[in-house]
Amino acid sequence: MKDLTGQDDFNLQKPPYDAVSQVVSTDLGRLHIRGPFDPEILSQYQLSGGLNCFRPSKRQHDSLIELAKQEDGLIFAAILANKIISYVTFQKPDFPWWIRRCFPRLLELGSMETDLSWRNIGLSKTLMDAIFINKDYNFFENFIIIAVHTVHSWDLKNTCLDPWSYRKIMLKMFKQYNFVPWETEDPEVREHPCNILLARVGANVNPEEIRHFSNCCLGLNSQNSKC
Ligand SMILES: CC(C)(COP(=O)(O)OP(=O)(O)OC[C@H]1O[C@@H](n2cnc3c(N)ncnc32)[C@H](O)[C@@H]1OP(=O)(O)O)[C@@H](O)C(=O)NCCC(=O)NCCS
Repeated sequence: MKDLTGQDDFNLQKPPYDAVSQVVSTDLGRLHIRGPFDPEILSQYQLSGGLNCFRPSKRQHDSLIELAKQEDGLIFAAILANKIISYVTFQKPDFPWWIRRCFPRLLELGSMETDLSWRNIGLSKTLMDAIFINKDYNFFENFIIIAVHTVHSWDLKNTCLDPWSYRKIMLKMFKQYNFVPWETEDPEVREHPCNILLARVGANVNPEEIRHFSNCCLGLNSQNSKC
């Protein structure tokens, strides 16, 4: 597919490191919101011990540093006194269905997590506000960003929420950043009725790309990985 908005067909042109950098006063103290991270700088911070939903925090730190080194990996985080307590990551799609249907203007919100001790006090929202509701930062307006929500990626155990309640919270939260549900034939999404594909179409994405994305969701177009 022809990319009409200028990104190279194969490589993501990353925004400058720390294109987002804000200090926010919170009840916890002064929170530094920054990203995308230089992997070297990321390695100098500690990852808070309660960030172990996907893997133990030490290993998660290593995996975030590895992702930040990749040409498509973007990490944003909330930092309190030299400790990362919440983060969100972006990359080229990692799910099989989307690897096969990648196109230049497609990104995936890969994971987001807040330290277990500091959940439900607005940290993720502070982070997402800085990334998506920030007049000085419009990088993501050039992309369609998918967020593939599957039951197994949710922390049902620690929240004691059932999958339908968790799904409702995710839908409400992501809607604030213009992520809306898309129908898809992706077998991984269709595996469980609570799974859901959310996508955010950036303001600078053209109709041809939206049509292409819509066909990708339904598996109508021929498979063409350009990423
Ligand atoms: C999902 C997650 C990142 C949210 O982070 P957070 O910092 O606790 O989120 P916030 O405090 O900013 O709250 C965001 C919204 O979720 C709601 N929420 C968060 N935890 C909740 C809970 N346990 N029960 C009910 N609502 C909850 C908040 O009320 C808020 O709702 P609003 O948008 O209507 O105001 C965090 O729960 C987490 O790390 N979960 C484990 C990993 C995960 O599920 N990631 C998402 C898929 S990749």
